Order: sequence, then C-alpha cells, then structure tokens
Amino acid sequence: MTPVQQRELAYHEKLYSGFAQSHFARPAVRALRRHMVRRILDLTGAGPHSRVLSLGCGIGDTELLLAPHVGEVVGVDLSPAAIRQARADAEKLGLPNARFEQGTGAEGRFDAVIAIFFLHHLPDAELAAMPGQLRELLTAGGRFYSLDPSCHRLSGVVGRLLLPNLMKRYQTEDERELEPNQTAELFRRAGMKTEVSIYDFGSSPLAGLIPSWRFGYRMARAIDDAILRVGPLRRRGSNFELLVG
Ligand SMILES: C[S@@+](CC[C@H](N)C(=O)[O-])C[C@H]1O[C@@H](n2cnc3c(N)ncnc32)[C@H](O)[C@@H]1O
Repeated sequence: MTPVQQRELAYHEKLYSGFAQSHFARPAVRALRRHMVRRILDLTGAGPHSRVLSLGCGIGDTELLLAPHVGEVVGVDLSPAAIRQARADAEKLGLPNARFEQGTGAEGRFDAVIAIFFLHHLPDAELAAMPGQLRELLTAGGRFYSLDPSCHRLSGVVGRLLLPNLMKRYQTEDERELEPNQTAELFRRAGMKTEVSIYDFGSSPLAGLIPSWRFGYRMARAIDDAILRVGPLRRRGSNFELLVG
C-alpha cells in the first residue's frame, strides 16, 4: 500500500465507524443520492442488463440505490469498514446483485464504471493512469461517469471562510479539488471522448448541513437548476461530472 493509501485508509476507517452511517442517512443526503442515481442511469445508459463497477464506493449508499435498476453492481473500496457496512446493508435490503470487495481495483469488464467523489483522492500519477485502467475495465461502448469537487467552487471559498473546521473534518490530508477541464483532458489525450459538466451549485454541500430535510434538498436542487443556466455562475459550481465514452 502506498503512503497516500495508508493515510486514506486511516481517515476512512474512522469516518465509517459510525459518523458516515448517520450522516449519510439524513433525508437530504438520501435525496441527493437518489438524484445522483437518476443522473448516472441517464448519462451512462445503464439498464437492467448492465454490469456496473463503482470505484471508491464507500459504504455503498449510492450503489444500493442503483442496484434495483441494473443487472449487477460491484463496489470496491480501500476501507474494510466501508465494505463491511455495504455488505451488511445489501443483505438487509435483499439485494444479491450488489457485491462489495475491499481493494483498489477490479477484474472483468463492465458496461459502466462510476467514481463518486473518488478521483480527487487519487495522487496525480494514479489519476493520470485512470484512462488506461478504464480501457481494461469497460466493455466496447461502455461509459465512465465521475463526480468530483471543482477547484472553482464558490461553496469552497465560503466554506473555508465560515466553517474552516467543518471543512477539514470532511477532508483527507491528500485530497484536493480538481480543475474540471484539465481532468477531462487526461481522458481526451488518451483518445477517449469526454464531456465535462457542472452538477450542482449549493444543493450537495447544503444537503450535509442543518436542517437536513428532503424537501430542503429538493428546493436547493431546483434553485441550482436555475443558477446553472447562468454561464458565469455555472463555472463557480461545486462539483463537476465527467462522462467518458
Ligand atoms: C470521498 S469518499 C467517497 C465514497 C463514496 N463514493 C461516496 O460517494 O460516499 C472516497 C473513497 O475512496 C476510497 N479510496 C481512497 N483511495 C482509494 C483507492 N486508491 N482505491 C480504492 N478506494 C480508495 C476511500 O476509502 C473512500 O471510501
């Protein structure tokens, strides 16, 4: 294991020993996850016969919402605590087509590979190697979808000013916000058709804050949809999506 992976592991073992479970169970975070799942299905075209791989799946809360819509979902994560929780929840929910493995990679071919808040945890060299890995993982016509914080996000500036301790609590030592177009270029240079778009403005960061109601998320998401139509504001959005393939 590399030193970065050791630090990531130590941070996430702690995060997944209770805090993440209760935080992710909040109604607004669940509503955000459901929104993400609809987006993933729309953009990747994954359906009832698709095999989906999720890199850095955490406790699998997105993957377990995705499972009823696809043939199979496989989640991999560095953290044993995350995988234990994801497996327990898959069993409790009766989702035998959701499989979770501890590790940093996977074997086999998938119709869609997703990476939710994952790429920005990879060191530059590992991020640069991702297009090559995807060639080995995707079926012909398969698609890769990722979601990561943008270095241009206004919410980051506001958060660092107003809630610096909270921001630190949610971040590992090695993660960083990514530049959307530079990240997309890594895949384009490898000859892969890549689209980049901004996913949200304030709705995802707010979903984790008080009051965390489902209705609150829906309102914030509706406001985001309006804000994201305005070019200069879109650039200051929180998280960007890549759609590769
Ligand atoms: C910000 S969390 C995102 C988790 C999940 N996708 C979500 O949306 O909640 C990043 C995840 O990546 C995992 N991770 C970090 N480096 C990894 C690596 N090299 N291989 C696999 N998982 C890794 C961490 O354990 C953590 O669960």
